[in-house]
Amino acid sequence: MEKQSNEALEIRKMTIEDVSQVYKIENKSFTNSSWSLEAFYHELEKNEFAHYFVVSLGDEIIAYCGIWLVIDQAQITTISVDQSYRCNGVGQLLLEYVMNFASATCTTMSLEVRVENKAARHIYEKAGFTYGGVRRNYYGDGEDAKVMWVSLKNV
Ligand SMILES: CC(C)(COP(=O)(O)OP(=O)(O)OC[C@H]1O[C@@H](n2cnc3c(N)ncnc32)[C@H](O)[C@@H]1OP(=O)(O)O)[C@@H](O)C(=O)NCCC(=O)NCCS
Repeated sequence: MEKQSNEALEIRKMTIEDVSQVYKIENKSFTNSSWSLEAFYHELEKNEFAHYFVVSLGDEIIAYCGIWLVIDQAQITTISVDQSYRCNGVGQLLLEYVMNFASATCTTMSLEVRVENKAARHIYEKAGFTYGGVRRNYYGDGEDAKVMWVSLKNV
């Protein structure tokens, strides 16, 4: 995608019909630890705390993000942008959208991110997230996770 205005992009709730496109992005983004199709179906159909969003460009889904809202605490469960569309501001746009959505009911948002995931850490830092600790061996391959969090009070 060429650098362009974000006017043609739409952010909306993820539906069951979106899952097959989302799953393709998921598989390419998280090669060793991708979610199953069933995991997405479970989140959309069974998890009352879950809210999932997609970014679409025409009929194509180019990004998605999931959050859990539990009382006044929000947690990002996943966020990914199709490889062809990265570094165009889509990730930042989606992150700001879910922060704004969560701020209606929650006071803080947190997440775990791989220590070596510099691109993701960069967008979280830009959005105001700070580091809250490390979860050792958090991922299946043994990599540590950094916990990050942000106040949603001034979003
Ligand atoms: C993290 C991710 C969602 C970002 O999406 P994106 O649309 O590329 O994000 P943006 O275009 O808004 O911003 C990317 C920023 O990261 C920076 N960046 C990219 N690669 C980087 C790297 N290796 N080190 C540091 N910064 C990097 C870009 O320069 C850009 O910053 P800038 O706008 O200040 O120049 C995307 O890389 C992705 O889907 N990764 C795979 C899935 C993933 O890791 N999800 C996070 C799980 S915690």
